[in-house]
Amino acid sequence: MGNEVVYCSCILLLLLLVEVGGGVGVSMEQGQVIPWIKAYSLIKDLDVGNTWPFYFPPIQDPTSLEFFPEDQIRDIPFSSEALPQLLRFFSLSPDSPQARAIKQTLEVCESEPEVGEVSHCATSVESLIDFARQVFGSDRVTILRSPLLSDSTPPVQNYTVLESKEIWTGKMIPCHYQPYPYAVYHCHFELVSGNKAFIVSLRGDNGDTVTPVFICHVNTSSWDANYVGLRALGRKPGESELCHLLPAKDQLLLPK
Ligand SMILES: *[C@@H]1O[C@H](CO)[C@@H](O)[C@H](O)[C@H]1NC(C)=O
Ligand SMILES: *[C@@H]1O[C@H](CO)[C@@H](O)[C@H](O)[C@H]1NC(C)=O
Repeated sequence: MGNEVVYCSCILLLLLLVEVGGGVGVSMEQGQVIPWIKAYSLIKDLDVGNTWPFYFPPIQDPTSLEFFPEDQIRDIPFSSEALPQLLRFFSLSPDSPQARAIKQTLEVCESEPEVGEVSHCATSVESLIDFARQVFGSDRVTILRSPLLSDSTPPVQNYTVLESKEIWTGKMIPCHYQPYPYAVYHCHFELVSGNKAFIVSLRGDNGDTVTPVFICHVNTSSWDANYVGLRALGRKPGESELCHLLPAKDQLLLPK
């Protein structure tokens, strides 16, 4: 291993440490929901004037959300089979939280897509755009993120909807951040049509405003009845749409 590689893996390790230490967080994927937080909504919940408690998890290190240049990660294997090699490369003990995060992310990336979906883990801008090209048939892509909150904004408070704008109906690819020594996003595309994206302007009780992106899955008929979001809304699969905030760590890809 040359000096350059060692140097590189030290930076990666540092990023991973920061990430794993980075607070608890409500993850919709992991199904942990604080009951009094509005983690899932109907389209009408986003109407102007409604007030809901939202949780915006703090993000310790926004730079960890940025992709590495492809040539820096191209030669690092990305598979569960290579886990022992990866742990040596990143100098991690198999019992460490960082090792568990790596293992979990690789499992997510190697799992079969949900029924009615195609999915892909992107480890670089190039692989993100490549997946978008396969889905949209064009590499002209708009990438949306929800803004980061300022440090002084309480992570949980009531917000009132000031404005709600439907910006897109059609094909879309939500990409969820995965903890890993470098940026990895799990992207998925639902084959059902008509999903919607909104930009919603919210004013918090403390006066701060934030304008996150909301995604509404309009056809939930093939979803698992036990899915935490459907249970939170008290709906059966297919009974209603299901909307949620796009967490600031995630990205939403739309055709341009
Ligand atoms: C939000 O408002 C409701 C109704 O006024 C109140 O019961 C609740 O405690 C508030 N939540 C927060 C986090 O301030
Ligand atoms: C919802 O999706 C299912 C496939 O998952 C499809 O059979 C059904 O026709 C769709 N419903 C509507 C209203 O588009």
